Amino acid sequence: HYMLKEIFEQPDAIRNTMRGRLNEDEGTAVFGGLNLSPKELRNIRRIVFTACGTSWHSALVGEYLFEELAQIPVEVEYASELRYRNPPMSDDTLVFAITQSGETADTLAALREMKRKGHPTLAICNVVGSSIAQEAEGGIYLHAGPEIGVASTKAYTSQCVALAMLALYFGRLRHLGYADGRRMIEQLQALPDKISEALESNEAVRRIAERYVECDNFLYLGRHFNFPTALEGALKLKEISYVHAEGYPAAEMKHGPIALVDERTPSVFVMPRGFIYDKVMSNLEEIKARGGPVIAVAEKGDDRIRKVADAVVEIPQVDEWLQPLVSIIPLQLLAYHIAVLRG
Ligand code: M6R
Repeated sequence: HYMLKEIFEQPDAIRNTMRGRLNEDEGTAVFGGLNLSPKELRNIRRIVFTACGTSWHSALVGEYLFEELAQIPVEVEYASELRYRNPPMSDDTLVFAITQSGETADTLAALREMKRKGHPTLAICNVVGSSIAQEAEGGIYLHAGPEIGVASTKAYTSQCVALAMLALYFGRLRHLGYADGRRMIEQLQALPDKISEALESNEAVRRIAERYVECDNFLYLGRHFNFPTALEGALKLKEISYVHAEGYPAAEMKHGPIALVDERTPSVFVMPRGFIYDKVMSNLEEIKARGGPVIAVAEKGDDRIRKVADAVVEIPQVDEWLQPLVSIIPLQLLAYHIAVLRG
């Protein structure tokens, strides 16, 4: 299936997204097509990302990255809503449309509306020469290669990488130092191999899919950098296997949705180690207390999770800001295998 082929193309896809865009000497990223000078970009005080579906999820990853690395306020807007809204936006707001195809009607309409209001508009887009690529005033091509599968996989991780490089670039325009920039570049360069390592979970994920294939409801839970991963994992399952799934920030469960948990509703916890790990663990224990099965996506060598989860998929360790890039891999595979097993 194209979906599986494209899942496995991700190490190469992100290599292509990064190619020629990391400048080690200056400890920053470089982009040829933004068409805005560093001086103009330094004056940007607010960023709006607008997109649909999976691209909207990568925008959420972008929001966390920009807040953390560039300390610029970011808003993530559904393009289908933004196009009909009239939010007050200051002059120093930059708008990014994020899209694989470059042809999504709502994203194009939101971009046009923002452009009409006089905001600088850029695109993060995969398809060269597409409508959105042409109408934006500049932007970044993903170079992820054609995405044939309807379920977006390699475009998603390429978008996340493009946003990580952009956050590095904006950070370096402001308060990120050279040494931080160099360290982040090294981590980005190591990422394709980390994704290859995450792909080695394929067989383990297939076995987990066999175990839970009869379930008709799944919850996907994560926090901070891994909250968008939970949303995207749930969308992949819904879209490709026609199984109901909900993504939530793990701590929101106790505010109502926990009522859904029973022994036939698995919760997929995205919980690589990091500052929020203990908090997610206590959210997990609440689910266990209600008898819900837990599938955990956790880091290699995490012995603690093995004692509490019903199934564990291992992913390699990466710095927290890059976790969304590896934690999504087993969830793409899980959606794929459940879809195939359900026919
Ligand atoms: O081409 P786009 O990125 O603009 O498409 C937006 C959504 O339609 C798309 O991401 C959709 O959600 C995916 N097929 C989900 O896998």
